[in-house]
Amino acid sequence: MSCATRPYVLLSCATSIDGYIDDAADQRLLLSNADDLDRVDAVRASCDAILVGAGTVRRDDPRLLVRSAHRRAERVAGGRPASPTKVTLTARGDLDPTARFFTAGESDRLVYCATGALEKTRERVGRLATVVDAGDPVDPDWLLRDLAGRGVRRLMVEGGGTVHAQFLAAGLADELHLVIAPFFVGDGRAPRFVGEGDFPWHPGRRARLAEARQIGDVVLLRYALSDRCADT
Ligand SMILES: NC(=O)c1ccc[n+]([C@@H]2O[C@H](COP(=O)([O-])OP(=O)(O)OC[C@H]3O[C@@H](n4cnc5c(N)ncnc54)[C@H](OP(=O)(O)O)[C@@H]3O)[C@@H](O)[C@H]2O)c1
Repeated sequence: MSCATRPYVLLSCATSIDGYIDDAADQRLLLSNADDLDRVDAVRASCDAILVGAGTVRRDDPRLLVRSAHRRAERVAGGRPASPTKVTLTARGDLDPTARFFTAGESDRLVYCATGALEKTRERVGRLATVVDAGDPVDPDWLLRDLAGRGVRRLMVEGGGTVHAQFLAAGLADELHLVIAPFFVGDGRAPRFVGEGDFPWHPGRRARLAEARQIGDVVLLRYALSDRCADT
């Protein structure tokens, strides 16, 4: 797919020093600090849609809304909804209709569902979201083209690892925001940023670091993964 026919794709992730995106405990692990969460909020506010995998919906139960009232008002004044469209994808359709993905805010919600789980998913969440038959397996490339057809020009992908790995391996990411928190997790049961994969950036083809910014006790590394990503 040519870049022009898919949205600009910005991947966002926070990891520990040793590359974990969560721990193995029940509660969600906070990696960012308040200033960085505010930066993430500004990035969200600049996007038309935010995507997370069904694993993150189940595990973290995120709201995926723009938090700042000022930023929400700015979006509305510009003719956009207060928060971006929420997007998730699932093969099994094990989505809880009481998850905040479905209940928080007034944003449009899209569930890209593998054909095999379509009926079950429509039964569960069909009155709360548009459930799209996305084939089997769901192809991120097709998903992006479908989002473009729905008017999404800028997409933020907030994880988790399975989803990030697919977009990266398929060369479908324009920009990566990687935040490093100042501690170790050190637990092999915890998830890492990405697992094994055939990634387009390797020792023979290094990614371009567009920016390194200290934000309190964390650091933001902004990688330009395509020519569409500006340096500033
Ligand atoms: N630190 C951070 O920045 C950050 C951000 C987000 C999440 N996280 C962490 O990431 C972890 C979750 O990551 P994860 O890798 O387990 O889950 P995930 O990437 O959020 O979601 C994986 C799930 O998405 C669905 N999926 C993914 N690709 C698909 C495809 N091509 N076709 C159909 N369905 C597809 C499947 O759902 P079904 O199982 O329903 O079929 C799959 O199990 C949590 O621990 C969370 O805390 C960390």
